[in-house]
Amino acid sequence: MKIIEAVDYKGMSRKAANIISAQVILYPRSVLGLATGSTPIGVYQQLIEWYNKGDLDFSRVCTVNLDEYCGLGPDHPQSYRYYMRTNFFDHVNIPEKNIHIPNGLAQDKTAECADYDRMIAVLGGIDLQLLGLGNDGHIGFNEPNGSFNKTTHRAVLKEETIQANSRFFNDPNEVPKYAITMGIKSIMQAKKILMVVSGAGKADILEKSLFGPVTPLVPASILQLHPDVTVVADEEALSQIRSHGLI
Ligand code: GLP
Repeated sequence: MKIIEAVDYKGMSRKAANIISAQVILYPRSVLGLATGSTPIGVYQQLIEWYNKGDLDFSRVCTVNLDEYCGLGPDHPQSYRYYMRTNFFDHVNIPEKNIHIPNGLAQDKTAECADYDRMIAVLGGIDLQLLGLGNDGHIGFNEPNGSFNKTTHRAVLKEETIQANSRFFNDPNEVPKYAITMGIKSIMQAKKILMVVSGAGKADILEKSLFGPVTPLVPASILQLHPDVTVVADEEALSQIRSHGLI
């Protein structure tokens, strides 16, 4: 595992965007696994800036998003499809047909999840998976649990996650209680993983994820077993790891 330290959020975003850029330049047909949440927004902004300068071409890239809230349609401002459109897709040249996000409105969630896994397999798997880190150590919406959920599934969101994500909603009661998320196996099968982490609030869970025991109670800890993980984090997020002399 590589841990790359950035001074601040802007630096973290630029370094992570550099890694994604390199992937797209070297392999224009890459399958990118994409993430939502507040942390990757700066990464998307940086990629858009370089695209506008003519440095990047996404015309042959395919994307696979990690997750989507159940019950929110693509036009709901808090749906992840809406987030991806407004923060990234509307500003670059990824063909619509190459974009994949779970359908949060699917009636048959079991079929939707199985189809999603099949689609990832048909694409040949994910070349580079971008991840954020939830306050409780979740990745995608793989919440702390008694065991690792392997494939795409309907996840029951933990109260802590609902609370954390309520900052984006007008009313905390509007936060969906369920989501469709790629499973741990799908994430772990990505050829490369890039996790972005920012802020002092994540310092403790980042240390547990990278240096604690590998346990489904800290889902991100499974990343310790992946052969090609890069963590780009700012000084605040790495503060505890640094003060414990782990880097
Ligand atoms: C959500 C997303 C995760 C994301 C997490 C952290 O729960 N499903 O993919 O990593 O939030 O979000 P933030 O970056 O806003 O802290």
